[in-house]
Parts: sequence; structure tokens; C-alpha cells
Amino acid sequence: MMSETKTFSPKNLLVTGGAGFIGANFVHYWLKTYPDNCIVVLDALTYAGNVENLKSAEGNPNFRFVHGNILDYDLVVNLLREEKIDTIVHFAAESHVDRSITGPDAFIETNVKGTHELLKAAKTFWLDENPGMEHLFQHVSTDEVYGTLEANDPPFREDTPYAPNSPYAASKASSDFFVRSYQETYGLNTNISNCSNNYGPYQFPEKLIPLVITNILESKALPIYGDGKQIRDWLYVDDHAIGIDLIIRKGKRGEPYNIGGINEWANIDIVNLVCDLVDKRIKKSDKLQKQYPNAPTNNGKIARDLITYVTDRLGHDRRYAIDPTKSNTEIGYQPNESFETGIDKTIKWYLDHESWWRKIMSGEYQDWIKQQYTIN
Ligand code: NAD
Ligand code: DAU
Repeated sequence: MMSETKTFSPKNLLVTGGAGFIGANFVHYWLKTYPDNCIVVLDALTYAGNVENLKSAEGNPNFRFVHGNILDYDLVVNLLREEKIDTIVHFAAESHVDRSITGPDAFIETNVKGTHELLKAAKTFWLDENPGMEHLFQHVSTDEVYGTLEANDPPFREDTPYAPNSPYAASKASSDFFVRSYQETYGLNTNISNCSNNYGPYQFPEKLIPLVITNILESKALPIYGDGKQIRDWLYVDDHAIGIDLIIRKGKRGEPYNIGGINEWANIDIVNLVCDLVDKRIKKSDKLQKQYPNAPTNNGKIARDLITYVTDRLGHDRRYAIDPTKSNTEIGYQPNESFETGIDKTIKWYLDHESWWRKIMSGEYQDWIKQQYTIN
């Protein structure tokens, strides 16, 4: 059941997972772009959630943080009532593929059951209690639901059949289907966005780009899975926020939209580039040389020396790429940030926010990461 929407201007947003990487960047983008809108963040603060990511929103009267779980139907439905929420932007998820391979249960709990609890709460408030109220359930999904591409395959389109390969991708695909079913069965207004790999500030350093940056600064190995020739389509995180904004305002309800960077890179090429850019920044700054005494350039080496090939990820998808034609022609989406500027900004952010990533790198995350690699 697809319905046309002219333009929609949300007033009160519930952002789930807003203390995570993309959610926090989205909150900052939205408060800056629409200062009159109210935002409530609901986040369970798992290992990936960090209230520090929302620090600059603290004190804003239009911003509220609620520490809670999307699995808690009563909490969610009461929040929707209390704050007269008209738009849910649903980021909350277990998001790391490697963790889904070692422990899939949490992915089914949050990504599948959690999304369903949210949908039930949305149906109660918007359809049962307030029929006729303008509303939108914006579901943030991934390109991984489409599976993997061969080198010469055309990029994923919105009509590419779903073929998820990892437990993470399967849990996201399942949540997408539940969202679709609430649109088709009950007439809940929904959109799904399927986005490619994001990079930028606040990304937890278990993901490739921040892992490489922070490991270089400590002269730790840079693990490359398999032959390192897997390809991802990288998008600066603010461009994801812009894409979601356009879908919320101009998207046809019930329609999926792909968001991508038109920016395919092999992993090993990304890692080499990041190595060279970090070396360059440290070499030309006395301050950074003092701040990061263990960095390779301070010790007669280069960051590329740290590259270490390790056992491949199980079921590792070879290539992702997004065809953004539909988003471009229907809602005017295109990425703003060039990869050259985006990656340099990102590296600078991590160099400037040492205490942020050091706190994360100590503790539980460290213990988990040690169990992951067998060095070839
Ligand atoms: P993240 O892991 O950095 O953040 C997830 C956030 O969700 C954390 O703040 C965490 O505390 C919260 N959370 C987890 N379980 C929760 C629960 N049960 N209840 C409430 N909050 C909970 O993830 P991210 O990289 O920012 O990804 C956000 C969303 O975007 C996810 O749905 C992911 O599938 C999707 N996505 C991510 C990328 C990417 O490149 N990172 C690309 C496309 C789509
Ligand atoms: O495509 C969108 C997806 O991108 C999102 O849905 C996921 O939430 C997000 O985590 C990301 O998934 P990837 O698995 O592509 O991202 P990750 O940063 O984990 O890995 C990127 C590539 O780098 C992948 O091919 C695996 C490889 N890799 C990763 C790590 C962490 C390495 O070679 N070494 C590493 O240490």
C-alpha cells in the first residue's frame, strides 16, 4: 500500500539509538537545521552508545535524553503520548557484523523484536488513539540486506532482491519486512532507507576506519581481513542525515530509498590512504608528535608497516555499491562531501578527541577484541 505524501514537516521527533554513531550525528544535524523542532533520544546505552556524543545538545530546551530500551513497549508508548511525537527515526540496533557472527542473539532481540515493539507502540499511538494524525516511522536500514555483488555487477537498486548473508544483515532484513508489513497491513506511514558504509566523527573504533586511525596512534597492528580487496561504498555521515531528512520531508510513504556515496573503495586502499594521511598530519605538527609519541612516524617507521593480514570474516561480503538514481530523481538526494575532505575531517576529529576514544578502547571492548583475531 503506497501513498503519496506532498511534503511533511515534523515537529516532535523520537530518535532511537541517538547516542550511537549515526544517531548522534543525525541529532546534531537536525537541531542545527530545524532549531524549533523537539527531539527526544531513546537509547539503551549499550557498549556502542555514549552520552558524550550528545554533549553539545545538553541544555537545549528542545532536546531530551531518555535512557531506555526499545524493547520496552510501555515506555515507548508513554513517550509518544507525553511528547506528542509525530516522527520516529529508528537508528537503534546492534550494528557490528563481527559481533553478529560471534553472538547473533542480541541482534534478533534488538533489531527484530525491538523494531517490532516500536512498531506496535507507533500503531497504538498514531492509528488506534489518534487516527488521522500526521506521522512517520522512518526506519534506518542498510545496503547489507541485498547481500553481495561481484566485481562487474550493477550496484544495488531498491528492487534488488534481499539476500542477507550475515546474522546482522538477516536481522536488519527481517526488521525491514516488519516495517513493510505495518505499512501494508495497518496503513502505518513508513519509509525505509538502505544506506551504505558511513564514516565520520563518533564512530565506535571497532569499525574499519576509526579502528585503523586509533591503532596507528598506538602503533598497534592494522588487521586486514582476507586479501583486503573487498569493496565498500563510503558515505560521510552528515550526508546520511541529509538523505534521511529528504526522505522524511519528500519521500513517498511506503517506498524504500537507497542512500550511497558513489564512492567505492577496496579495504586495503582505504587503509593505505588513512595510513598516509595520519603520517602526514603527525609529521607536520610538533603538538601531535608530543601527543602521540607511539605513532610510527615518531619512531622512524610509517603507518603502513602496521598492516597485518588476518583470517577472513566468515561469510564476508565481497562488494557493496549503491545505485542512488531513485533518491536522486525523486527527492533530490546527492552526497555533498567529497571523500578527500570527509576522510581528512574524520582523521582530524579522532586526533583532536583522544580522551573520547581512549575511554572506549579501555575495558570491555578491549577484552572482546582480543578474542577476534588469528594473525596469519
Ligand atoms: P551504533 O552501534 O554506533 O549505535 C547504535 C545505538 O543504538 C547505540 O547508541 C546503542 O546504545 C543503541 N541501542 C542498541 N540497542 C538498543 C536498544 N535495545 N534500545 C535502545 N537503544 C539501543 O550504530 P550506527 O553505526 O550508528 O548505526 C545506526 C543505524 O544505522 C543501525 O540501525 C544500522 O543498522 C544502520 N546503518 C549503519 C551503517 C553504518 O555504516 N554504520 C550504514 C547503514 C545503516
Ligand atoms: O554497508 C553498511 C554497513 O556498514 C552497516 O550496515 C554496518 O552497521 C556497518 O558496521 C558497516 O558494515 P561493514 O561490515 O562493511 O563495516 P566494518 O567497518 O566492520 O568493515 C568494513 C570492511 O573492512 C569489511 O569488508 C570488513 C573489513 N575489515 C573490518 C575491520 C573492523 C577489516 O578488514 N579489518 C577490520 O579490522
